[in-house]
Amino acid sequence: MRWYIRNMTDSHSLSKKPLKVAVLVSGSGSNLQVLIDAMNAGSLPIEIVGVISNVKEAYAVTRAQQAGIATAVFSHITEGENAGKRMGIKTFERHAGAQLNEWQPDLVVLAGFMRVLSDDFISGSPAPMINLHPSLLPKYKGLDTHQRVLESSDAHHGCSVHVVTAELDAGQVLTQAMLAVDHSESAEELQARVQKLEHQVLPWTILLIAQGALNLKAINENADAAPYLPALPLKLWLNSQIAR
Ligand code: GAR
Repeated sequence: MRWYIRNMTDSHSLSKKPLKVAVLVSGSGSNLQVLIDAMNAGSLPIEIVGVISNVKEAYAVTRAQQAGIATAVFSHITEGENAGKRMGIKTFERHAGAQLNEWQPDLVVLAGFMRVLSDDFISGSPAPMINLHPSLLPKYKGLDTHQRVLESSDAHHGCSVHVVTAELDAGQVLTQAMLAVDHSESAEELQARVQKLEHQVLPWTILLIAQGALNLKAINENADAAPYLPALPLKLWLNSQIAR
């Protein structure tokens, strides 16, 4: 792996250079918006160098454009001669990989990106990748997490930020935030509450990376070898702010 994130001794916080972040999206982009707002407010030392979407109509693309951020859309639905045909993941990855190489980010953030990426793409990335997932991993990998939680007897639910690997939602969990499930609420209501957690835990996780407190290179090489922060994964209890 060619990943490299600075550690405590040569961190971005010392050099004051913002962490260059590329964001992959497929949907509304509310998490992207939080990152844009935090960047513009100067509360997160990042520079969003570009946003890649696999969905042409994704509102996330509009959000990026409105913020003056470079965008690239590699739609999974083709137009023209082969209209309506699905673009294979390999084709998407070829375009997205070339774009990432051009932008040279320090970190790639999957914020509502809804396609599974291959091992080749992940290991060939110019920067480590993290993903935001709407469950307390390792529980509820994949889709429909909120509905599945409501159908269970789980008392807690939440979201996770984890390192991306070729295995779906299986990479090292970095941070999690959780809330108490109210089993009388709808999946949409639960999703809305979890998203409020996401909007807090994602920027905090990126801040930890930007400041060198979370060293993705060390975690990637050996999940047990992050001696400077032995308490990770960090679990934030933010329930009080989003109680029903
Ligand atoms: C988020 O809730 C995120 O957890 C989920 O997509 C949503 C995107 O929201 N991601 C996944 O399900 C990935 N498997 P947003 O577009 O408003 O940021």
